[in-house]
Amino acid sequence: MESMDCEIIEGPSTSSSSQKPKPKNSKSHLPWIEKYRPLTFQDIVGNEDTVSRLEVFSRNGNTPNIIIAGPPGVGKTTTILCLARALLGPSMKEAVLELNASNERGIDTVRNKIKMFAQQKVTLPPGRHKIVVLDEADSMTDGAQQALRRTMEIYSNTTRFALACNNSEKIIEPIQSRCAMLRYTKLTDAQLLSKVLDVCVKENVSYTDDGLEAIVFTAQGDMRQALNNLQSTHNGFGHVDSKNVFKVCDEPHPLLVKKMLMQCVSGDISSAYKIIAGLWKLGYAPEDIIGNIFRVCKGLDVSEPLKLEFIQEIGLTHLKIVEGVNSLLQLSGLLARLCLKAKSVGVN
Ligand SMILES: Nc1ncnc2c1ncn2[C@@H]1O[C@H](COP(=O)(O)OP(=O)(O)OP(=O)(O)O)[C@@H](O)[C@H]1O
Ligand SMILES: [Mg+2]
Repeated sequence: MESMDCEIIEGPSTSSSSQKPKPKNSKSHLPWIEKYRPLTFQDIVGNEDTVSRLEVFSRNGNTPNIIIAGPPGVGKTTTILCLARALLGPSMKEAVLELNASNERGIDTVRNKIKMFAQQKVTLPPGRHKIVVLDEADSMTDGAQQALRRTMEIYSNTTRFALACNNSEKIIEPIQSRCAMLRYTKLTDAQLLSKVLDVCVKENVSYTDDGLEAIVFTAQGDMRQALNNLQSTHNGFGHVDSKNVFKVCDEPHPLLVKKMLMQCVSGDISSAYKIIAGLWKLGYAPEDIIGNIFRVCKGLDVSEPLKLEFIQEIGLTHLKIVEGVNSLLQLSGLLARLCLKAKSVGVN
């Protein structure tokens, strides 16, 4: 329903005709994550509460300093850029200073670059402020963050700070206390699917339902990964079905893992072992295998008590693997315990 106007590149002033501008020429070479990076709040999928709060800020101006924290690929950088675009429009070029982990962001940068920018005079409408975007702020050193404390306050009548990070604990307390903390969560499968479908239609991708299901399964709530996997499969194979997706993503096929778990349910340890040994031989990392087993188990069609027992065992094995005991024996031990659980809890 929202007509994703991803093709509008430089803002509304460039639209000369009432027809949609032709998108292909300038953007056809772009990776889809950039080509379909949302430009307005309406196009951002998920985390609706936070996004709508920011939308209100962007209408009224006078935003607080913000920190957006959350897992990778869920739209943190995108949101901050949308906010800057909505607040500043055409003045965005001179009124936004964007620094990310690829820039030098030590204490000197804070002292020189950020301070200089904050002192610069830019004429903006009332209620609008210059914005310093500190992307991937969790990689800033403590010293640099300390240097930011007073700067944030001194220039608060002209400049606002927007920080994005994966790990909010890495932002020092005093900075957190000067900012509104907004937390992003992973996107749900339905949210991923809606955007992926949208891109499929726009790019004329040939797909099957199980292919898109596989894209969503492998992305684990990360929109960037979903779009990248979609594009890789489309470019590599020309057709998005589950087989091709799992080839591109190089993950154990969930159907195989499901089969293995169902064999445990029926107590057939030798067949289940064959599958896990096969996966091991193919060279999958034990962490990936156990993560995959967990995700498949969550959707397994067995009774609730049995599923809970299974998840407990899988979790304990995951713990041991993370601690370094990551042999094939560990994984086959898990299968044996699952068989025992199925026997004691009973299948229904
Ligand atoms: N909520 C979303 N709605 C629509 N597209 C999204 C969303 N989140 C991510 N994307 C897509 O994924 C790409 C990467 O998103 P973005 O750069 O905002 O991630 P991020 O949260 O900043 O991740 P990181 O923590 O790795 O920096 C975007 O260009 C966009 O195409
Ligand atoms: Mg980012």
